[in-house]
Amino acid sequence: MICKGTNTSIAEGIIRMGGDDRRSPIFEGEIPIPEGVSYNSYVILDEKTVLLDTCDESVSHGYMSSLEDALSGRDLDYFVISHMEPDHGAAIGDVIRNYPEATVVASGLAFEMLANFLEINPEKRLVVEDGTVLELGKRSLTFISASMVHWPEVMMSYESKDGILFSADAFGTFGALDGAVFADQLDFDGKYMDEARRYYTNIVGKYGAQVRKVLDKSGSVEIKMICPLHGPIWRGGFGEFVGKYVKWSGYEPEEDGVVIGYASMYGNTADAADTLATMLRSKGVKVVVHDLSRRHSSYLVSDAFRFSNIVLAAPTYNNGLHPAMSAAIENMESMTVRARKYSIIGNGSWAPRSHEFMCKRTEALKDMTLVGEPVVFKSSLKDEDREKLAHLADEIAASMGEA
Ligand code: FEO
Repeated sequence: MICKGTNTSIAEGIIRMGGDDRRSPIFEGEIPIPEGVSYNSYVILDEKTVLLDTCDESVSHGYMSSLEDALSGRDLDYFVISHMEPDHGAAIGDVIRNYPEATVVASGLAFEMLANFLEINPEKRLVVEDGTVLELGKRSLTFISASMVHWPEVMMSYESKDGILFSADAFGTFGALDGAVFADQLDFDGKYMDEARRYYTNIVGKYGAQVRKVLDKSGSVEIKMICPLHGPIWRGGFGEFVGKYVKWSGYEPEEDGVVIGYASMYGNTADAADTLATMLRSKGVKVVVHDLSRRHSSYLVSDAFRFSNIVLAAPTYNNGLHPAMSAAIENMESMTVRARKYSIIGNGSWAPRSHEFMCKRTEALKDMTLVGEPVVFKSSLKDEDREKLAHLADEIAASMGEA
């Protein structure tokens, strides 16, 4: 919930308005958020006043009174809309109705999208482009086009006096912040990095080239603070996090290791996955295992970006591929998982074919390298199947230089 009590001064004359949503089970109607999610918008008080974005409906209850409080009795001069996705736009209509004299500032494409929802007084529109500077008094905002990070209309804003990058969705994370505003108030690496990776890979993972472009552009200015629309504000110490963005946007694994995603009807394919995991662990290989029937494929996608190797294990189902595995591969394709080593385990009771379907479906992923022959077994693991898994474990470990 966003309320007056959560307004926080983050620099002279800059207030973060933000709140946590711990109640919604899923984000974008698709991605589970068991740790919640947070939303930020920002007010700048200079000779001119500015609001950057609003929030999601889930936290909008006290938004307008919080905005009034943040403005300290002043009127609103500029309302910057960085991103038109509704998780930042629930209060756009209320802001425009309550502050009719405010000039709405956005990219041309954002105005086209805005027209799908409401009418804006043409005299109160200011279309800005990459490089446009908005003078506020002591401060100014320079707009940076960040097309496809996460939608095509997105713009970041750079405030040069204090070196603040208002980064829209970039550098955000899933996870409620529990009163924290800054990343250095949290155990970010220990508690949030996994969710930051899952957020990135499932929101903009497929737009690596566009993320790289924005990283290159923003690399030409001195950034001292990063203010995203989700997650904590970074007031330093963000080198490692930016480094993750460089790797993720280049589809480069963070580390050697294996994510095993399996679908299992009666536990036998799960046995194969766990047997392989145990064999790999005994060789010192880092392993994460996801039961795709219980765990949303966003976790598999996230760990596929993290690790060098992927193992997919599934039974044949109605002479096709188990639906949980089918959905997971579709999501990996959609999020453009690529350039990984992968291995396949197939199961079936009378005519095992799931390995064929998994091999065929993974052809849609680019620059993938098959490690080992697919391991195929009937119904339950026998000694000869365990031997094949042991051989596969050897080959996977060898593929990352751990043999
Ligand atoms: Fe947080 Fe793309 O919206």
